[in-house]
Amino acid sequence: MRPKRGILAAHWALDPETTFLNHGSFGAVPNVVLKEQSFLRSQIEMDPVRFYEREFQELMYEARKSLSFFLNADPNGMTFVRNATEGVNTILRSLNLKEGDEIIVPNHSYQACWNAVDFVAERSGAKTVVVDIPFRVRNKSQILDLIMDSVTERTVLALIDTVTSPTGLRMPFEELVERLQSSGVDVLLDAAHGPGIVPLDLENLGAAYCTGNCHKWICTPKGSAFLHIRDDKKDMIRPLSIGHGSSFQGSDQEKFDYEFGWPGTQDPTPWLCIPKAIEFLGGLVEGGWPIIMQRNRKLALEGRGVICEALGTSPPVPDSMVSSIASIEIPSDGDIGPMEFEGDPFHNLLYDQYRIQVPVFPWVHHKTRYIRISAQMYNHIDEYYFLAEALKNNL
Ligand SMILES: Cc1ncc(COP(=O)(O)O)c(C=O)c1O
Repeated sequence: MRPKRGILAAHWALDPETTFLNHGSFGAVPNVVLKEQSFLRSQIEMDPVRFYEREFQELMYEARKSLSFFLNADPNGMTFVRNATEGVNTILRSLNLKEGDEIIVPNHSYQACWNAVDFVAERSGAKTVVVDIPFRVRNKSQILDLIMDSVTERTVLALIDTVTSPTGLRMPFEELVERLQSSGVDVLLDAAHGPGIVPLDLENLGAAYCTGNCHKWICTPKGSAFLHIRDDKKDMIRPLSIGHGSSFQGSDQEKFDYEFGWPGTQDPTPWLCIPKAIEFLGGLVEGGWPIIMQRNRKLALEGRGVICEALGTSPPVPDSMVSSIASIEIPSDGDIGPMEFEGDPFHNLLYDQYRIQVPVFPWVHHKTRYIRISAQMYNHIDEYYFLAEALKNNL
């Protein structure tokens, strides 16, 4: 028998025959938001020229305003990108790095973004400084100390996650931004798991750069992310794709908006659905977004407890470092290699035999294999018990 799903599951298009415990990888879009996207697409296709000439600018403005309000961010520094990888690349490839400059990357960082740091470092003669942080951390001071101890007079930038991907660790990013930037190190905040999973107040944080996905925890269609650039850095940062905006005649702000807002012809509907997604999800639960985040976190913690018990292990990190995703080590025989495109054999077994969708991956930097659960409003604690039974029967 399939485990129970959460009472809100009917709002999502997810297959009821699948136990979906991986909101973290690609999010999942509620039906109402899919409908909004179809509506917007039909508006475009009724007359694409009219849409782009007469409706697009206003809708983009509304989307930027809505997300800026949600994140307490300066709307004049808010731009859209397709995903957090693109946001990270946009910053890194705009920076004027010099030989000997150092960029800090903790070893829990998302590999694609870490690769982008290596790429710009190699071509400029700068250096990637990897900070080794174990998975089983005792408290946030341990992370703060390890990262701050890696700062030298040559450090120009630190890539800091809000929530790490392989290890599902809620980083002490507020303190890190404050301490790194007070030491003269700009922070590129990777908030891929940011909006809708942890409270974010960009104005107060003051990070030089912050990029994050809307297609994960605020459940917009895929290809919807933001890049926020602090006012004093705007001159330096250019979009990855140089286009019409470059020769646009207008104020600095108009030029900035145009350069980022028109990366060439593409489907803008994932961005334009942001206001609907924020409003719809926020209205599903009394108390809105703060309660959604609290509820998801509580479920992730409960789910983690169930899995840890099944695996005979203790919770690996303090509760305060868990958001709505949580990783746990799983036993493995043999070497831990890099991630493979076909997926870890154990992930595939859980899907093929039990229809459980949950990521299992090797993390070569820790020589460990992790299973990572997610909790979103469509989940139910029964689903984690179901996973726990499958783990007990197969490990
Ligand atoms: C911490 C982190 N950074 C970046 C990304 C990349 O996100 P995207 O594939 O949307 O660019 C992810 C994706 O899971 C992530 O977890």
